[in-house]
This record gives sequence, C-alpha cells and structure tokens, in this order.
Amino acid sequence: MSDLKVNSIAGVLLASVLGVMGVGTAADAVFHPHWPEKAGFMPEIAEAGGGPSGPAQEGPPDFGRLFADPVQYAELVARGERGVGVCKSCHTFQAGGADGIGPNLHDVFGRRAATHPGFSFSQAMHEHTVVWSYDTLNEYLRSPSQVVRGTRMAFAGIRNTNDRVAVLAYLRSIAPSPPALPAPLPEAAPAAAAPAGAAAGAAASPAPATPATPAPH
Ligand code: HEC
Repeated sequence: MSDLKVNSIAGVLLASVLGVMGVGTAADAVFHPHWPEKAGFMPEIAEAGGGPSGPAQEGPPDFGRLFADPVQYAELVARGERGVGVCKSCHTFQAGGADGIGPNLHDVFGRRAATHPGFSFSQAMHEHTVVWSYDTLNEYLRSPSQVVRGTRMAFAGIRNTNDRVAVLAYLRSIAPSPPALPAPLPEAAPAAAAPAGAAAGAAASPAPATPATPAPH
C-alpha cells in the first residue's frame, strides 16, 4: 500500500520533471539550437582552407562535392527538413506559405535578399544585395547578425557545419529554380581519392563526442 503511494508520488515527480524539460528544450531549440554533433550517416564535413602556416581559417563547405552524390544529398535533405524545425516559429516553407515573423522561404534559395513580395524587410537586409545561394546562405545562417548587421532575424545561427549544410540542402531541394551546383573545390581532391573520408574521420576523432541528445519534437 505504501509502496503504491511512493510509486505514484514518483510518477508525479517524474512527469513534472519531464514537463519542465520539454519546455526547456523547446525554448532552447528556437534561440540556441543545440543539435546532435554526430552526423551518424556521414563523416564530418571538412572545411576547406587553412594553409599549413597559421591557424585553420574556416572556408566554405565543398557543396559541389557534398550535393553531387544523390544518396548523400537525399540524406542531407532529410536531415535539413528536421533541422528547419527551429525556423518554424518565424518561417513557413511550403509554396505560397504565409509570411510570419519572417518571410516564406519556399523559393529563398536562388532569390535575391529582401525581395520576397509583401514582406517588410529591415533596412539592413535591403542593403544586403546578395543572391541567396550556397556560400551566401551558408555565411548568413552561421551567424545572421554578424553577416547582416541590423537584421531583424533574432536567431543565433547554426554553428554546426553539418547541420547548416543540411539546412541548405533542404532549402535547395524545395526551391523551384536553385542555382547550379558549383564545381567541386580543387583543394578537396586528394581527400576524395581516399574512400569517402571515413578513415580520416575516424582518425581525427578517436572518441565520439557527446552522445546524441534527442531532437526536440
Ligand atoms: C525568431 C524568428 C526567426 C527565426 C527563428 C528564424 N528566422 Fe529567418 N528571418 C526572420 C526575420 C524577421 C527575417 C527578416 C530579416 C530582416 O529583414 O532583417 C528573416 C530572414 C531570413 C532569410 C532572408 C530572407 C530573404 O528573403 O532575404 C533567410 C534565408 C532566413 N531568414 C532563414 C532562416 C532559417 C533557415 C532559419 C532556421 C534555421 C531561420 N531563418 C530562423 C526571423 C527568424
């Protein structure tokens, strides 16, 4: 009898702890995305650039290679589709979707910045006259407020390169006329000769990083 009571108290406590955690992760997901570091299905994406002298300078990911393989591309698109969950408090992604706090992003890949009809962009975004494409989206989504100073997009950015590349793959996959894939970067050629970079990935990270945290629902 007293066992039963203890159990139900424990149950209530557990439920409230879970409730608190649920709220916490939802808020974190919007403002401080903290996604699993481990890709699971692919080796970490190596950043190009960073000469032998001097500190590693982060270069752009090799989109021409990453998106060329149809299987890998499909996996990235699927991962990106989950990844944009954190954008959905402000953006819609389907064709003809309504603007929210931010503009609809269905055709953003290939569209010039601040040209979505009917949305009132910040002055800063109007002055950012780029076409949203591989490198421009990659830079912006890494750190929106650093790339477009004064942007109204209140979002910290996606620091994890794999997650960011996956979001780009998804945005490209839904766009009606995305720009053509760039040519693969020449610097990446020697690595590509090795079988899919799997060996390099294993050697570079002897222990897997933090265990994957469950994705926010
Ligand atoms: C808190 C709300 C919010 C979140 C979360 C958010 N955005 Fe935005 N986003 C905005 C706003 C507002 C703008 C317009 C910015 C301006 O005018 O300066 C914008 C603009 C953009 C633009 C430029 C659109 C254009 O037509 O020029 C892109 C691309 C974009 N967001 C992508 C994303 C992606 C991808 C995510 C999720 C990873 C995301 N945003 C998360 C609010 C948000």
